[in-house]
Amino acid sequence: MAALKGRNLLSLADLTAEEMMRLIATAAKIKSGEINPQCPQKILGLVFKKASTRTRVSFTAAMYKLGGQVIDLNANLTQIGRGEPAADTARVLDRYLDVVAIRTYDQSEVEEFAQHSRIPILNALTDLEHPCQILADLLTVQEEFGGFKGYTMTYLGDGNNVAHSLILGCALAGMNVRVATPEGYEPDSTIVEQAQAISQGNSEVVITHDARAAVDGAHVLYTDVWASMGQEDDAAKRIPIFEPYQINQKLLDIADKTAIVLHCLPAHRGEEITEAVMEGSHSRIWDEVENRMHAQQALLAEVLGAV
Ligand code: CP
Ligand code: NVA
Repeated sequence: MAALKGRNLLSLADLTAEEMMRLIATAAKIKSGEINPQCPQKILGLVFKKASTRTRVSFTAAMYKLGGQVIDLNANLTQIGRGEPAADTARVLDRYLDVVAIRTYDQSEVEEFAQHSRIPILNALTDLEHPCQILADLLTVQEEFGGFKGYTMTYLGDGNNVAHSLILGCALAGMNVRVATPEGYEPDSTIVEQAQAISQGNSEVVITHDARAAVDGAHVLYTDVWASMGQEDDAAKRIPIFEPYQINQKLLDIADKTAIVLHCLPAHRGEEITEAVMEGSHSRIWDEVENRMHAQQALLAEVLGAV
């Protein structure tokens, strides 16, 4: 039986280091054409309460490549949007579907969904985490550097969902991780403690307010929007607060000379990243985008028991 058959992915911390590396390895094999797992007649449901381009399309394309089908369960077209409880929806969907990916606000909602479901539930982004994104990001790092140990990932910006999964993913991979945020926007201390417990002092987990110190000698610079979905009213207020954390040429100059730049997208050019860096020679953003599909194809194949 495949190691991850029937499993949920609600947080990257649901995986052991070995399991996460297995997923990344499976994604690399799918991307290279070495394997072509198939899940014919399996159905993926997408329950998305927030906007999405990459996650929605890459999950859909991944499921089609596996020979399966997808049902888009837009909250506004279902009773989900009218408040039917997650516990009830979960027990309905698991009678029809084989796997569900959920994008919502509270992590407790995906947890409640999973608790009442007999099929795998995948976190397609909550306010707390974005595990599928980080599987693709780590695949991109592996492609560039051939591994993780001894390399340093620096995240600049808001210490929320993407940062949380990145901290956990780097700790699982044995990669040093530094997170630089403005005061008041630090990552959740529980996540940081989880990452420290995973790394057991074998790799760095550094949280700082000093962007330059965090970037010094780093191999990967990573950022995300300064105001996430649901925080739009706060966006203007955040611009001057986050400005020292912008990925620009000045910061790139103090990173390792081989450093690459990642961004989960969508990007706000001129805010968290400059146009020149985004489109420059250090950017691997478009490979990162592509890797969302390979990583999710691997994840779906694994939880459906096809590899
Ligand atoms: N990176 C990411 O999750 O993008 P979408 O919001 O477009 O899915
Ligand atoms: N932090 C961003 C990520 C989008 C993929 C958000 O939650 O809106």
